[in-house]
Amino acid sequence: MKKSKKLFIIFLLALPILIFLAVVINNRRTMGTTDNFNGDKVVNANNINSPDNLLVQGRTVYDKYCIACHGVDGKGNGPEAYRLNTKPTDFASGNIKFKSTPYGSMPEKVDIVATLKLGVRTTAMLPQWQLTGRQMNAVASYVMSFIPKDQKKEEAIEISNAPTMSDTLLSTGKRLFEANCASCHGKDAEGDGPLSKHLTDYRQNPISPPNLTLRPLKRANTQKRMYMIISTGIEGTPMPPFQYSLKPVQRWAVVDYVESLKSQHQTLNNHGMMGRMMKHRFVGEESKGMQIDMAAARAWMMGRRF
Ligand code: HEC
Ligand code: HEC
Repeated sequence: MKKSKKLFIIFLLALPILIFLAVVINNRRTMGTTDNFNGDKVVNANNINSPDNLLVQGRTVYDKYCIACHGVDGKGNGPEAYRLNTKPTDFASGNIKFKSTPYGSMPEKVDIVATLKLGVRTTAMLPQWQLTGRQMNAVASYVMSFIPKDQKKEEAIEISNAPTMSDTLLSTGKRLFEANCASCHGKDAEGDGPLSKHLTDYRQNPISPPNLTLRPLKRANTQKRMYMIISTGIEGTPMPPFQYSLKPVQRWAVVDYVESLKSQHQTLNNHGMMGRMMKHRFVGEESKGMQIDMAAARAWMMGRRF
């Protein structure tokens, strides 16, 4: 037999073994990543810090804890959304209410993480204390991936130092409030201004300005947070930004004035005996959130702190 023929036969005999090895090696390479299917791209599970991997982890967290309300594609149309008056955010619309960047610009990831830590009080969006810091970071990246990329990127708004409260500052605040806020929030900030009954949000759902003498508010529960909200406005709602029309010291004057009106706690409703026993006093739709989002409810009642 010629040498080349002999080699060819050896090759033929070895072929099944070669194919077998190739399949095994290939399987081992992709093993453990087959679940991590991200769109049409298989990502490498070994590199935990790669952005792709953060998204994969974020999606896992999202599918487990967020989908019931925010929906598979982040449009706020999850299977439980119909039960809620304040509807879950449609991330794909780009309307993020609580952020540190100016009205009309892209939120930062830290803003999303802040919402996970604080929740949105009075709504079904509970603080997500069942998550680790790492999971919050990952799911925040995933939420950011729903937000349209065409919004402009701008620097976060700085919170200037608060001036010391004084009678003059308070009366300036009162004057500015009556001129800029009373049309919606009412002369006494009780949420009953002449425009209050006719407002809608970006989905044409009715929305009303809250009674600012009650606590908790959705977010503005510290002076700094209230300063930020007055500066940024609330995207997707009629609440306008005052970053450009009021100077920092004027915004502080309004904050001080509004804070001086703070009188009572929100009425507690339908949270039952359990709610009364717990140190958190659940308000508005928080109790509905607790029925849907049991993991978050449990963690919140346990009182983890950041
Ligand atoms: C029980 C329902 C529910 C669940 C579960 C839930 N959310 Fe929400 N979420 C809401 C509602 C309702 C709002 C809207 C609050 C508003 O517009 O005032 C909201 C708002 C938000 C906002 C936007 C706040 C803003 O600034 O506009 C973020 C971010 C968010 N949720 C992230 C998440 C993530 C991430 C998860 C899962 C870890 C999650 N949510 C789970 C109901 C839920
Ligand atoms: C055109 C109507 C309108 C005007 C003017 C307006 N607001 Fe609002 N404001 C709203 C609406 C609507 C909301 C509720 C948004 C929501 O619940 O998501 C709101 C919410 C708020 C909140 C609550 C945020 C939270 O954490 O729940 C504060 C604080 C606030 N406004 C302060 C002011 C101040 C101060 C001014 C004037 C400098 C002002 N608003 C002017 C409509 C208005």
